[in-house]
Amino acid sequence: MASITKTIPDDFILGAAASAWQTEGWQGKQPGQDSWMDAWYKRERHVWHNGYGPAVATNFYQRYKEDVALMKQAGLTHFRTSINWSRFFTDYRNAVVDEDYATYIDNVLDELILAGIEPMICLEHYELPAELFDNAGGWASSEVVELFVRYAGKVFERFHAKVRRWYTFNEPVVVQTRVYLDALRWPHEQNTGTWMQWNHHKNLATAKVIQLFREKGYPGTIGCILNPEVTYPRSSAAHDQKAAQMYDLFYNRVFLDPMVHGCYPELLLDTLARHEVAWHYSENDLAVMRDNCVDELGINLYYPHRVQAPSHAWNPETPFHPACYYEPFALPGRRMNTSRGWEIYPQIIYDMAMRLKTDYRNIPWFIAENGMGIENEGRFRNSDGVIEDDYRIEFYSEHLFQALRAREAGANCLGYMVWAFTDNVSPMNAFKNRYGLVEIDLENNRDRRLKKSAHWFRQIRDSRVLAL
Ligand code: BG6
Repeated sequence: MASITKTIPDDFILGAAASAWQTEGWQGKQPGQDSWMDAWYKRERHVWHNGYGPAVATNFYQRYKEDVALMKQAGLTHFRTSINWSRFFTDYRNAVVDEDYATYIDNVLDELILAGIEPMICLEHYELPAELFDNAGGWASSEVVELFVRYAGKVFERFHAKVRRWYTFNEPVVVQTRVYLDALRWPHEQNTGTWMQWNHHKNLATAKVIQLFREKGYPGTIGCILNPEVTYPRSSAAHDQKAAQMYDLFYNRVFLDPMVHGCYPELLLDTLARHEVAWHYSENDLAVMRDNCVDELGINLYYPHRVQAPSHAWNPETPFHPACYYEPFALPGRRMNTSRGWEIYPQIIYDMAMRLKTDYRNIPWFIAENGMGIENEGRFRNSDGVIEDDYRIEFYSEHLFQALRAREAGANCLGYMVWAFTDNVSPMNAFKNRYGLVEIDLENNRDRRLKKSAHWFRQIRDSRVLAL
């Protein structure tokens, strides 16, 4: 069968992502340096698959040299990870830098640069210091905004010569949605006002960090990594369209609009006011946001989001939840990744690209995460011990194809990064679902081995041709 090919432009990023807490492990961590995720693991360890969690993770803290050598072997042009805010200071209220941790970051950056791999650094990937969550109310508190800006300042001061691409948050909507809308995690309370306050303070913190970055004249770009869910209505009927519009408003536009256009959608402000959702902002906050939009966006995309109009009327006596406007809808006959329960629909990349082109001033962006978590990958091991993950190669090829197609259609798509470089600890599944180009062998000292997809990655990077 004839294959379709696409040329990959020379400047197109071909990378992989990770985060600090999902890989580092706790080696060298001081008392009081727990992140929100570490604390959650300690509190609710029973929900973690086989008890594996961030305590050892992939032990990147000790094994980063080995991993960078593997990145080189797999042909990555860029590697995205985070600096762990909760570990960066020994006393973060007084901004006392943990020299051991900062030296480790310096070494990781040096190793990457030496290998010809450009680092892309996120300042927070679910790594809010636990103490600020437990005792200061997390991102509901404006003190946390100021502490984050100070942290960013210290990080820029220290590493600006080695990093040219910075991001404030990874998926800023996620934590508060799990905690305050879904009430899935401690303190298990539903509160839409607190949820919106967290959103606002993360938008404000992003703007303030951008302001600082530009005032100091640091070289490079600064943006944020968002996870807009490409939302499709069940039908073209007005009530289903409205469901999709409201879903998009609450989970996507709540960050996209302020970060790219510098303001909240009127519809969001009106809807929150109509439902008497308690959150606050000042005119000064809005002015800072208006004047400090992102240079570029990272976009994490995994699956489509399908919604329909809710089947039951919302009881106005209950506290307001955005779900009063929509209900999830499962497309009959959809292609699925059954390990994760996510639909596979590569068109999401093209559709998001066109949206960014038309509604978001064609801002530069890249796929910052796209991947497939698979259970029991050992069953695909060949006689040489290599995991033959053809399903992942197919998944990546189809999604990368859509990114290249979008670029040809005028989208400002800078590149494509897979999640993840190595298997790692996931917030929902620990090591159950494996995402890596590289296997982490938990039974054998966390030894690393390239999967077939890593060899595929190397081959497309070298040839700059994608064949479907
Ligand atoms: C992304 C996150 O949303 O999804 C990662 O940025 C996460 O941190 C990844 O690991 C995969 O999701 P999950 O829940 O299967 O680990």
